[in-house]
Amino acid sequence: PTQTIAAIAMRANMAQKMLAQKPQAALKELQTMEEMARRTTQEIRHMLFTLRPLVLETQGLVAALEAMAEKMRDTYGQNVLVEIDPQVVEKLEMEQQSVIFAIAEEAVNNARKHAEAEHIWVRLRPLRGDIALLEIRDDGVGFDAKAVLASYEQRGSLGLLNLRERSELINGIFHLDSEPGKGTRVQVAIPLTEAAIERLRHRI
Ligand SMILES: Nc1ncnc2c1ncn2[C@@H]1O[C@H](COP(=O)(O)OP(=O)(O)O)[C@@H](O)[C@H]1O
Ligand SMILES: [Mg+2]
Repeated sequence: PTQTIAAIAMRANMAQKMLAQKPQAALKELQTMEEMARRTTQEIRHMLFTLRPLVLETQGLVAALEAMAEKMRDTYGQNVLVEIDPQVVEKLEMEQQSVIFAIAEEAVNNARKHAEAEHIWVRLRPLRGDIALLEIRDDGVGFDAKAVLASYEQRGSLGLLNLRERSELINGIFHLDSEPGKGTRVQVAIPLTEAAIERLRHRI
């Protein structure tokens, strides 16, 4: 797709030059570009979908999280500690594992980018009766979570909102707490059975 995108840029440049002298040709050029851009979007979507959970698909959530932690250490010198209860993972559908991975990845990246933390912990453990707890915690600088969440309308980035939305995808309850100077903790309570979904929904 990178080649196609480069080609689209070239054609856009040509179309600009044609616009004054040959508007008909410019129009055709634009139509071709639209078609190319649409196809590329599809291709990229497909790639993101198939590429990303490769380790996840073949080796499961624990291996995928370990690989992510290793990459953080190698690339950024960031200490990421992964503590996952395999018995919880056994109860998770691949779909849920994939969403959990995406949540952990975003939260770890946030901690890596913003927290200046010495440690980042990724934990998944049983909470109570068929409800698991995913927790990503760091011992970094923390931030004013209320202020950030309240100003999302004016902000470009959607990372924290994505965390919440992804949690909802797996019927989870998302919780974020952070205070300047105190580090940050992202928690998602994840129901593992239909009955647990109901109980969590009614907070019992
Ligand atoms: N673990 C963290 N430690 C410190 N600050 C954080 C952490 N996670 C998020 N933040 C703050 O919240 C903001 C919003 O996060 P996010 O929506 O993921 O956007 P982005 O990561 O693209 O800046 C960040 O810009 C940062 O200021
Ligand atoms: Mg982010």
